[in-house]
Amino acid sequence: MQTLRTTSLEVRDNQLWILDQQALPQQQNWLAAHTVAQLVEHIHALRVRGAPLIGLSASLLLALLAEQGLSRAALAEALAVLRAARPTAVNLMNNLDRMKQALQQADYAAALSAEALRLVDEDKALCASIARAGSALVKPGSQLLTHCNTGGLATAGVGTALGVIAAAHRQGHVRNVWVDETRPLLQGGRLTAWELGELGVPYTLIADAMAASLMARGEVDAIWVGADRIAANGDVANKIGTYSLAVLAHYHGIPFYVAAPHTTLDRQCVSGDDIPIEQRSAAEITGVAGSFGSVQWAPANAAVYNPAFDVTPAALISGWVLDTGVVTPEQVAAGIFQP
Ligand code: MRU
Repeated sequence: MQTLRTTSLEVRDNQLWILDQQALPQQQNWLAAHTVAQLVEHIHALRVRGAPLIGLSASLLLALLAEQGLSRAALAEALAVLRAARPTAVNLMNNLDRMKQALQQADYAAALSAEALRLVDEDKALCASIARAGSALVKPGSQLLTHCNTGGLATAGVGTALGVIAAAHRQGHVRNVWVDETRPLLQGGRLTAWELGELGVPYTLIADAMAASLMARGEVDAIWVGADRIAANGDVANKIGTYSLAVLAHYHGIPFYVAAPHTTLDRQCVSGDDIPIEQRSAAEITGVAGSFGSVQWAPANAAVYNPAFDVTPAALISGWVLDTGVVTPEQVAAGIFQP
C-alpha cells in the first residue's frame, strides 16, 4: 500500500503505525500496529481512540494483512475481532461493513486496499465539510467550550468539533476555548490542549467541574462536542460528561452543538437507550496513569462505576452539524434521521 500519514496514523513499509495517544503530549511515540492483537490492545488502551480513527485504523490494518497474503477466511475472522474491539462508536462497525463488502470481491486484496484508502480520503473530506458548516455558526468574539478530543488526532482530517473551532479561529471569531480536562482519561487536558496549542488557538484548560460556574458567569457562548453514535431520534452518545454539559447549557440558554460525520449516524438505533455503553476498568477512577507515571489515591477495594460514554437526549441539542450541513431540532423531530 502507498505511504500514508495522518496526525496519528501512518502506513509505512506496508505496515501500520499509530501515534500513542496515551503518551501525548509528553512523548510522541509511534507504535507498531502490525497485527490484529496489537491493534486491538492499542484500541482497548485508548492509544488509538476517537470514533472515526478506530474505524480507519481497523480498515487499514485489514487491507495491509490482505496484501501480506492472509486468506479470505482469516481476514473475515480478523474483521470480526476488530469489529468487537470497542462497542459504542458506530464508525468502527460502519467502516468494517464496507470492508466486508470488499472482502467478497474476486480480487479482495486490491478491493480492501482501495476501500481502506477511500475511507481515509472520505474522512478527510467529511471533516472539512463539517468545519465549513459549523464555523458559520460561530459568532465573532466567541468563547467556546469543548469536551474530550475531537481533532486531527481522532480523525484522518481536521477533526469534527475541533475542526469547527479551528476553522472559526482562522476566521477570527474565537476569543477563547474552554477545554474540559475530561476525567478520567484526560483527553481534553492532554490531547485537545496539545492540538489547540499546535494550531495557535487561544485556550484555557479547566477541570470538568468548573464548566457550570463559567456558564453562570456568562463566559461560555456555545458548546461544541463530537459524537460516537447518533440514534434515529437524535440522541447522542459521546464521552462521559457530555450529558452534564448539555443540561447545564439548557439551563443557561447556551447553544449546544454536536459535530459528526454522517458515518456516526445509526438509523437502526431507535433512541439512545439502544446504544451500547462501554464500561471501563476501576483503575481509571481509583487513580490516574500515563507517561508521567501512575498514582492511586482511592482505597484499593473502592467500588467503582466507570462508563466511558453517556447519552445526551435530542431535546438538549441545538444543532447536529454533519458533513451534509446543519440539522435542526425541527428536522430531527420530523424524522430526518429515521431509517
Ligand atoms: O474514549 P474516546 O477517547 O475514544 O472518546 C472519544 C469521544 O468521545 C469523541 O468525542 C468522539 O469519538 C468523537 S471524535 C471525532
